[in-house]
Amino acid sequence: ASAVPFHGEHQAGITTPAQDRLHFVAFDVITKDRARLVALLEDWSVAAARMTAGQDAGEIGAVGGIPEAPPDDTGEALGLPPSQLTLTVGFGPSLFRDADGRDRFGLADRRPAALAALPKFPGDALRPEISGGDLCVQACANDPQVAVHAIRNLARLGMGVVSVRWSQLGFGRTSSTSRDQATPRNLFGFKDGTANVKAEDPDLAEQLWVQPGDGPEWMTGGSYLVTRKIRMVIETWDRTSLGEQEALIGRSKGSGAPLGGGDEFDELDLELKGPDGEPVIAEQAHVRLAHPSQHGGARLLRRGYNFVDGSDGLGRLDAGLFFIAYQRDPRRQFVPIQTQLARHDLLNEYLRYISSGLFACPPGVRDGDDHWGRALF
Ligand code: HEM
Repeated sequence: ASAVPFHGEHQAGITTPAQDRLHFVAFDVITKDRARLVALLEDWSVAAARMTAGQDAGEIGAVGGIPEAPPDDTGEALGLPPSQLTLTVGFGPSLFRDADGRDRFGLADRRPAALAALPKFPGDALRPEISGGDLCVQACANDPQVAVHAIRNLARLGMGVVSVRWSQLGFGRTSSTSRDQATPRNLFGFKDGTANVKAEDPDLAEQLWVQPGDGPEWMTGGSYLVTRKIRMVIETWDRTSLGEQEALIGRSKGSGAPLGGGDEFDELDLELKGPDGEPVIAEQAHVRLAHPSQHGGARLLRRGYNFVDGSDGLGRLDAGLFFIAYQRDPRRQFVPIQTQLARHDLLNEYLRYISSGLFACPPGVRDGDDHWGRALF
């Protein structure tokens, strides 16, 4: 029930032990006025510091004001604890230049090279109306009402400056970001997050945080966020044999251990051959294709969530993984890994990539005088 500090060197919600619930939102900026946008980021930072501490979004509060005015908090989190709420902001490529190449807010020369539009991957069936966005906010909490309340109040504060482009609820974490957490399971029933970058890892900074000299300076201490909404065709999966499922992933479904035996956290033995002379972890197994040894050591801090958005009218659950990954440079991390998976992963038969997002998440808000994106504007 406790609070996660909002202020710090890095934004909360990245290495913070993954909470159980997500409400992710992407906004379009609808004002042309740079000052109004900066003022909103200031107001958001104040509201975010308050809400993550378990307070109302505004000082007057949901029920403290005069009867004639709308309250400065919507009220549905009254009486609820902070629930480890974190709010993490990111800036999309379109904030720097619009689709026609126009410099919208005088930011074009501050756009990071690493924030280059993602290539189109084989098999992508992206829906533009639920992809991209000028700004994003990731709200994670252990109570869904707390996460939704936070996004709703940021959207309310943004009226006239931003409009909600798309948003996504997630109900169960599919990753651990700390060695103290048990590994959860995704909707294929497999442990997910075993080999994730964890807060305690010695290569954390190298994999996750933009380092001095990487450029641009305003991103130092920040991280790049990739989101992918991946529909899972679970009805087909559920008719696949256990052995086939394990071969596709490359790990045992029960323990999460690499195929070939051992414990969940044992290193993958990619050289191991079975009695038939074939590799025990197949050439096209998901964990082999995604493994750092295939990508010059590149890893990801995965922080995704399961979703079920009801059903699709054809008798199937509209379910899957809202994939979230943080990294120091998507050009060296997400892009090569996803390219390999898109080409060779046999799991693709059960997956549909329907939304994609890329955002530059700046370093942390230092204190009450600092605000989201101060170094950028
Ligand atoms: C590992 C499932 C999509 C990157 C794993 C594991 C599972 C899994 C069960 C093994 C446990 C673990 O180490 O976490 C899935 C499912 C996906 C999906 C069901 C789609 C719905 C992706 C995507 C990427 C990705 C889109 C990145 C482009 C990785 C990486 C590992 C991994 C880097 C760790 C590999 C290692 O170092 O051993 N995934 N995954 N996965 N996955 Fe995925």
